[in-house]
Amino acid sequence: MKKIKIPLDINPYEVTVGSDILQLISSEIKKKKLFNNLFILIDSNVDLIHGGKIRLNLSDYPAKIALVKIPSGEEYKSFETLNMIYSSLLSENFGRDTLIVAIGGGVTGDISGFAAATFMRGVQYAQIPTTLLAAVDSSVGGKTAINFGGTKNIIGAFYQPKFVLTDLSFLKTLPKEEIISGLGEILKYSFLYDKTFYSLLEKNSENLLSLEERSLEKIISECIKIKSAVVVNDETEKGLRKILNLGHTFAHGYESFLHYSIKHGSAVIVGLLCAFILSRRMGLMSKPNFDKFSLFIKKFNPGFDYSGLDKEELYRIMLHDKKNRQGKIKFVLPIDIGQIAIDCEADKKDVLYTLAEAEGFFI
Ligand code: NAD
Ligand code: GLY
Repeated sequence: MKKIKIPLDINPYEVTVGSDILQLISSEIKKKKLFNNLFILIDSNVDLIHGGKIRLNLSDYPAKIALVKIPSGEEYKSFETLNMIYSSLLSENFGRDTLIVAIGGGVTGDISGFAAATFMRGVQYAQIPTTLLAAVDSSVGGKTAINFGGTKNIIGAFYQPKFVLTDLSFLKTLPKEEIISGLGEILKYSFLYDKTFYSLLEKNSENLLSLEERSLEKIISECIKIKSAVVVNDETEKGLRKILNLGHTFAHGYESFLHYSIKHGSAVIVGLLCAFILSRRMGLMSKPNFDKFSLFIKKFNPGFDYSGLDKEELYRIMLHDKKNRQGKIKFVLPIDIGQIAIDCEADKKDVLYTLAEAEGFFI
């Protein structure tokens, strides 16, 4: 079991990563002197597969407890689901002394966090991530949101959880596409910080899809350490935190173009490739680095076809990303490992060149 501190000035907390650690809920609540009336929001698939185990773990829980299902799917990160959450909280008489607990992937985590941030002007919440993507990324850092009017994460808040319990036993039931999606974010981290983590992944690249729990524990912990170092320095994304969006401008373009039919982390794999191509094109990344990084990433097929898409339309979608201003797309571009340029404005022709160059790469 590993514990990683997120040492924020206000609201510091800890992420615990290990196998079969669900039973730590009660001790975490006691240790942090949190409210113990539990309002659990659980992904519907997780409930189907793991609901029995979860209920058993909580069978002698000493305070009030309710369990509400969140339907699986990005389309449920919506106002309608939020409405249902507020209504359940009120009809079951949950008050300010509530601890909302999210058990699921990023969808459940993001909407639960936003419900916690807004219900009665803010109640406590905790995250129990059950996807690889949520374990390495969305459960930590306090970005909470819902989608609205066709735009992802457009309504939200920065609101930190009180604790995060990453129980590796959940990850065993993930379909392969969800593992690939989580890998997308893990690969992103490998370029952000130092060469040790990159080398670890490079050495193990052949068997990253079938990781056993010890390696998974190590990799997840390393990712969280990197995320912690960034978030502690820039909680609300004024500058440094933008590096966590490496590959994401392109990824969001593909996701939106394909109507969110592809997994976020899989789109990030293609987004990383695009970031390398654009960085090289703009003279930021050296040829040896470009060759080395693209050879590495080639081993991780994102599992969806992005060839033959209308690039003008893709560009238009990227231009409308909420992070852009005055008709310019801002990119996060890697130069070397641990050397990331933010707010890079690229010409349209360079972006179109990148989209064309990226085609057919993973075949
Ligand atoms: P998800 O929550 O939709 O989960 C993916 C699928 O896996 C779902 O079908 C779910 O039912 C299923 N599932 C979950 N746990 C399972 C398990 N243990 N076994 C079997 N199936 C399981 O998707 P995700 O990839 O976890 O998260 C994506 C969301 O996260 C997006 O909405 C994205 O915007 C958000 N996100 C947020 C942040 C952040 O910092 N807050 C960062 C990255 C992504
Ligand atoms: N997933 C990007 C961030 O947390 O900032």
